Parts: sequence; structure tokens; C-alpha cells
Amino acid sequence: MSSLHSHPDDKAIIKVDQNSIPEVLPIIPLNDQVAFPTLNMSLAVASHSSSVIESAMKDNRMIGIVSVKEKTETVPLPGQMYDTGTVARILYMTRATDNAVLLVVHGLERFRIARWIPDNRFLKAAIILSPEHIEDGIEIDALHRSVRDLTQELFSMSLNVPNEAIDGLSRIKDPLHLAYVAAAHSEIDLEKRQALLEEDSLRNKLNELVEILLREKEILSIGKKIKSDARNEMDKSQRSYYLRQQLKAIKKELGELDENESEPDDLRQRIEEANLTDEVRKQALSELERLDEMSPQAAEYSMVKTYLDWLLDLPWNHTSEDQTDIEMARNVLDEDHFGLQDVKERIVEYLAVRNLLAIRDGIHQNVTSRAKTEAATGVILCFAGPPGVGKTSLGQSIARSMGREFTRMSLGGVRDEAEIRGHRRTYIGAMPGRIIQAIKRAGTRNPVFMFDEVDKVGMDWRGDPSSALLEVLDPAQNSTFRDHYLDVDFDLSDVIFIATANQLDTIPAPLRDRMEIITLDGYTELEKIQIAKRHLIQRQLASHGLNESDVTFMDDAIRKLIGDYTREAGVRQLERLIGAICRKSIVKLTTKTWEHVMITPEQVADYLKKEKFESELSETIEVPGISTGLAVTSVGGDILLENLP
Ligand SMILES: Nc1ncnc2c1ncn2[C@@H]1O[C@H](COP(=O)(O)OP(=O)(O)OP(=O)(O)O)[C@@H](O)[C@H]1O
Ligand SMILES: [Mg+2]
Repeated sequence: MSSLHSHPDDKAIIKVDQNSIPEVLPIIPLNDQVAFPTLNMSLAVASHSSSVIESAMKDNRMIGIVSVKEKTETVPLPGQMYDTGTVARILYMTRATDNAVLLVVHGLERFRIARWIPDNRFLKAAIILSPEHIEDGIEIDALHRSVRDLTQELFSMSLNVPNEAIDGLSRIKDPLHLAYVAAAHSEIDLEKRQALLEEDSLRNKLNELVEILLREKEILSIGKKIKSDARNEMDKSQRSYYLRQQLKAIKKELGELDENESEPDDLRQRIEEANLTDEVRKQALSELERLDEMSPQAAEYSMVKTYLDWLLDLPWNHTSEDQTDIEMARNVLDEDHFGLQDVKERIVEYLAVRNLLAIRDGIHQNVTSRAKTEAATGVILCFAGPPGVGKTSLGQSIARSMGREFTRMSLGGVRDEAEIRGHRRTYIGAMPGRIIQAIKRAGTRNPVFMFDEVDKVGMDWRGDPSSALLEVLDPAQNSTFRDHYLDVDFDLSDVIFIATANQLDTIPAPLRDRMEIITLDGYTELEKIQIAKRHLIQRQLASHGLNESDVTFMDDAIRKLIGDYTREAGVRQLERLIGAICRKSIVKLTTKTWEHVMITPEQVADYLKKEKFESELSETIEVPGISTGLAVTSVGGDILLENLP
């Protein structure tokens, strides 16, 4: 073990008379290092060589130092050492605890080993001094300056060289001393170092050094650049992060921390708790990382935040348990709707088949069995019929009878595929498409999903929404539905899709092909009366805070409402009128302290004023030559009567 002490000053160089150097010297082998003339060096001498030191100390304190070619722990053989070494004087000696000897020596002169002298105590050799060949002239001056400048530069680039040493370099006048200082301090291997020592010509030494030093400088500056590049890269993100954390701490201290500063932390917690699929979790965390690095004031911040809110609000893994009791399902359907026996029966069959297949395949159906389910249940149910006949409300009933959530999206006027699938996030104000929005409203990933008014879906240059619908309805594809905004797959395969339409001929053919059409015709007067008595009146009373003992409708009154005030296939207008009558009754009940209102046909006329439609029966006069026409309309039918001039 050894280390070099340079004396970056000419004054420290010890000059001795060459004649005072003995011809035979004790030799110290040196691992890993080369001792140079003119330099101080501290070294630890292994215990096996400590007798050399003792003998030298008694004598003139001079030793010869040669380097060992390959490091060894034992006493090296002559062939294992270099022939050229440095005569050195011991300046200082002390014993270390492990019996090794610590020395500070000063290099005096270069020598070559002439012959090894056998001695059983230590290595000993006859030496020949071989002083370097010292040229002078302008070239040496120039080389001297180059080496000095380069060494100075290198010293200042490395952290562990004190400033005095750097300054000292400029005071070195002796080019040989400078060459050895530079050689001792540059990062070169032992062989090169030894070669520098062995080189006879000063000029060659200096030339060699310029090359070595330039190379080293290059390496150092590249290393620096790599480091600073890496730091810059880190700085940009880390700096803003640390600053923001500090700001947060300061604000907290001042009691000024506002809500959204802690947002990323809240979001992190929500991500942990949200039970996300792996893909989504990864996506959410990477977005959160971006958010962490942004200032809450940045425009993009709220975009990323909104996106994360969407991700976290979706029911990725939230399923509701199916109610599988068919009798109960039938009861629910009956409770909600009067009549419609065929339709209800078809729905019950649909549910029964689903249940059976679900039981056969176990609770966790795989994709193929789902496809089977779809096939067996007759694809997607589509209720078709005039307005107000209960298509939408049947969908709600199905959901209720199965114990699932209900959600719907209306396709009326949807012309743009992006409305269904969402816009990519690069658009300003981008949002998920309506399907994902509806799923979010449902709150579970297996709701009953109603596509209302599929017959009104449009098509233009912005793309064909029906093709997106087809994908959604296809059990082979909808387990990996990808909304443009979310950009992660959402599994729609557990959703039950139902559609409604007023007309069939405007539904795009491929779409219609996927659906089983169930037609709901208009109701007859008798049916409407029953629906009113069993459902509409109760519902309207309840929603107006009344009960049956407050207001009673006579059958004739209902009939009058149907005949004279409405003309529709369904019962929507009828329900609305019943609502109107309820409100008028409330006025009566509260202002005139009535206890009970009986709705008679006269009462209806009183409340609703003029009849909207005249009964067709009043048109019984037949005018010769003019026939009465029948028309089919979207609300049922009508009679075309002659208009007499
Ligand atoms: N058979 C029925 N029994 C009880 N209520 C009914 C029946 N048919 C319709 N209704 C009621 O009539 C109202 C209108 O029905 P709904 O909104 O489902 O009509 P729709 O067929 O979807 O019409 P649209 O085509 O205009 O969307 C609802 O309140 C519904 O409960
Ligand atoms: Mg509807």
C-alpha cells in the first residue's frame, strides 16, 4: 500500500551527490506503484521487508525501490520485478500496529539493477545510476507549459486536489520534476507509469504526458457531461416535484393548504381502493405520476385529473348479484305492467334460458359460453311499437326483475361515432362516449342497458355510429370494448342489452339482424282503462302526495279522458292528464276544505275545459260519393272524414 506525495515546488527537491549513493543497495519491492525521482512518497512496507529498513536506517538511509510487475504478497523473485527503479532516501519511519513499517521517502535518482546480490535477510542489488537525458530549448519550454496547463486543468476538475497544489504547479520550473508530478497523478496503469520512468529522454517523457493528459481530460469531461445530462433530466421532474412538496409543506404550516393540493394523494388512495384491473391500474398510476409533476394551475392538470376521475368512477369490477327466481321475476313484470301477456312471457323465457345456461356453466362464464347464451336467448331483445306503450318502462322492469341496475342511452340524433365511443384525449374537452357514460351511471358492470330509439340513429361523414353499436352488441367483441377517451378495455360482456324502436324500417339492417323484435301494439280503450285504474292513477296520486281516499276516478271519467282528450296508441298523454286532474283536485282539497274529490265525466270537462277530439261517432252522416278513409299512423290509426266545403 502506498500513496504519492508530490512536492509541487522545486524547492523541496533534494539533491544529493551521485557519489554518495552506494553501489549496492537494499531493495524494496513496491506493489501497484512506481516511485519517481524528485517526489515524496509515503509507503507501507510489508513486514517481510522490515529488516531492509532497519539496516538502511543504520546506514545512510538509502534504499532502492522497484515496482513488482504483478502484485504479490510474498517476497518477489528477481524476474518478477522491473529492472529500473528509483533510489530514495527515508525521510521518516514509523511502525504500524500489524508490524508493517510506514515510510515517507524522497526519490533521488533513477537506477538500473546491474546484478542481484544473494542475501538471506533481504533483497539486495548492485545498481547503476541512470540519470535521465535532459534536453532544453523552446520545444521543451512549450511542452513544459502544455503539461503544466493540462495538469492544472485536470487537478481543478477533480474534487480531491487542494487549491495549493494547483497553484504550486505554476511554480515548478524543473520540467523533469513536473513530468514526474504529472505522471504520479494521472490515472494510468502501472505499466505506463513504469514506461514513463524508463523513458530516457525528457522530451519524450513530456510528449508522452501531453497525450496521456489530453486523453484523461477528454474522459473526465465526457464523464461530467454524462453526469450533468442525467442530472438535468432528473432535475426537470424532480425539481418541480420537490419544490411543490416544499410549497405544500409551507402552505400547510401557514394553514393555507387548499383542497386540491392534496389531490394526488387522495387519488393515489382511490386507485389503491378502486379494485382496478391490472391494465387500468397501470394506466391510472402512470397518469397520476404525470399529475404529480404538474402544477395544479396548469391547463393540463385538470384534464389529467378529469381523466383519472373517469377511470376511478367506472365500475371495473363491481357486479350486482342476479336474482334468478323466475316466479319472482314474473311477479315484478306483472306488478309494473298490465296486459302485454305475450311480451312478458317472452321476457320470462329469456330470463329462464339465461339462468339455465348460467347454472350449467358455473357462475363465472367464459367468453364462449357467453356467446352461447346470446345465441340461445335469441340475441338482443328489441321492443318495437308506438310511443307510450311501455317499451322503456318494460326495460326498467326487466332490470328490476333480475335485480340488476338499469341504464339507458338514447340514440335519437346520434350521428357521430365519437358520441358512442368518445373522443381521443387529444381533443380539447374530450369526454368518454355515451356507452361509458351510461355504464358509469349504472354503477355496475352488468346492468340492463337499453339502447332507446335505435331507429333514430343517423349516419353521415363523421362515421357510422351503427357500426360502433354492432361491435358493442357482438358478444365476441364486447369483452374488450375500447372507448377512445379512456383508451383501456372495458368488459361489456356481462351487460344485458335491450333496444327500443318506434319503427322498424329505419333501423340499419345489420343492426336489426342482431335483434329479436318484439312488437308492442297500441292498447284498446278497455286496456287503457285497466292500465289507468291499476297503474297510472295510483302512480300519479302517489307522486302528488295524495292517496285513494282523497281522489277517486269514475270509469266513465277515465273513458272520457281516453276518448275525448287523447288520441294515442300508448298511455303517456292519458297519464299526463291524470296528473293534471290530480293537481286541480289538490287545489280543491286545500282551498275549499273538501275531504274527498270524486272525478266524474262532468268534473273532467270542468277541469280540462274543451275536448281536444270529437268523438268519431258524431260523424255518422254519410255524404253520397264520399267515402270514409282509414289511415295507419305511428300512433296507431285514424279515420279520415270528409271535409265538407
Ligand atoms: N301496460 C302498461 N302497464 C302499466 N303502465 C304502462 C303500460 N304501458 C305503458 N305504461 C306506462 O306508460 C308510460 C309511458 O311508457 P314508456 O315511456 O315506457 O313508453 P315508450 O314505449 O318507451 O314510449 P316512447 O316510444 O315514446 O319512448 C310509462 O309511465 C309506463 O309505465
Ligand atoms: Mg321510451
